[in-house]
Amino acid sequence: MSADPFAGLHARFPADFVWGVATSAFQIEGAATEDGKGPSIWDTFCRQPGTIADGSHGDVACDHVNRWEEDLDLAAGLGVGAYRFSVSWPRVQPAGHGAFNAAGLAFYDRLVDGMLARGLQPHLTLNHWDMPQALQDRGGWAARDTVQRFVDYARAVHARLGDRLASMTTHNEPWVIAMLGHESGHFAPGIRHRGTAMQVVHHLLLSHGLALQALRADGSRAGLGIVLNLSPVHTATASAADAAAARLEDGRLARMYLDPLLRGHYPPDVLEYLGADAPRIESGDLRHIATPMDFMGVNYYTRNVASSASPWNPAAAGRPITDMGWEIYPQGLTELLLRLHREYPVPPLLITENGAAFADELRGGRVEDAARTRFIAQHVSAVADALEQGVPVAGYMLWSLLDNFEWASGYAKRFGIVHVDYATQRRTPKDSALAYRAFLQRVARRHTEEAAEAAGA
Ligand code: FCB
Repeated sequence: MSADPFAGLHARFPADFVWGVATSAFQIEGAATEDGKGPSIWDTFCRQPGTIADGSHGDVACDHVNRWEEDLDLAAGLGVGAYRFSVSWPRVQPAGHGAFNAAGLAFYDRLVDGMLARGLQPHLTLNHWDMPQALQDRGGWAARDTVQRFVDYARAVHARLGDRLASMTTHNEPWVIAMLGHESGHFAPGIRHRGTAMQVVHHLLLSHGLALQALRADGSRAGLGIVLNLSPVHTATASAADAAAARLEDGRLARMYLDPLLRGHYPPDVLEYLGADAPRIESGDLRHIATPMDFMGVNYYTRNVASSASPWNPAAAGRPITDMGWEIYPQGLTELLLRLHREYPVPPLLITENGAAFADELRGGRVEDAARTRFIAQHVSAVADALEQGVPVAGYMLWSLLDNFEWASGYAKRFGIVHVDYATQRRTPKDSALAYRAFLQRVARRHTEEAAEAAGA
């Protein structure tokens, strides 16, 4: 039907721009109790009635632990140069402290070698939410002792894999861990307590800074950073009350993380709002948190619309949405990147996640997901807009390679560009995967031609 939504986009990116796809351990691995893996808080959470929309869990998921070679083949077949994945902490250190599990470390060792063998740069995330249950039982992220446990874990992973990694991310989306995990309780560990959530923010950020220092002292050559979920916050109406709600929402979502990481202090207005729920901070903590990063990861899905009448994002009434109910708003990514560049001393930025869930159907061996292809192209174009205005964006990673376990939504929400039939574990690249591949082929061809011209000139 309509023209290729990627048309012309390949010419807007530099040759060294990194193109990738992303996954995370709990969402794809399965093998929940195999080879010495300990339970994570998500294994526990899924067992509690009413937590996951379809009553599912991650015991098998995409069976990636047994099918990783096929999955890396699929990624490499797209023509991407990078693969973002996470390590399951309880797979490599079952109790989150003490002994490491040789079989778990060996799995990631093979996985990383498998990426390199296929020309994929490994981008590793240490904490994509699946904290060991045994550590949660000792207080989890609310306990200051967990900070040091995380540093030990980071060093062990780095000692085994660090020589082959393009980047290491400490935490994926600390806002989600704190707010959904500890304030609203929609995600594991299912705690509902604002003061606890704010202490969790502080311990996540502190463990990030201390891990960076430890990994640098250990001689890390991988780029080190963190991944934040960010969105521009707009107002529902022009009222002063909504403007104030948006300012606070931006404080809680963005500035609560950006300010300590990049400027060395928490935002005073948010601390004032939190009152007795503000985190307890020890002397020296803020200096550690602001340890310089090599890159910062940005996950972008939608904008937020703040309203004084509703504490959570009001529904995107009448606007285009994905199957998650999230508004499709690509220009928000440009706006966000420009703002980061303008207001903060940011290191190079990496789009570490962007993508969309749609109600896909596999028919005759094909998934016609034109809406997803359009979504991706529009957001890639939004990144180009930011690049052209001077924002240092180093790469773009699509969420996700595979349909997978979408947390509290279970398996009903499909974010993959490769369809997974959970009954057979058969993988089928969707039309969006073919479009992304065709786009990446044009990117590669253009750079080959440019290099040839430069050599001939
Ligand atoms: C992000 C998560 C990722 C995935 C997407 C849809 O918040 O980092 O694991 O679930 O949302």
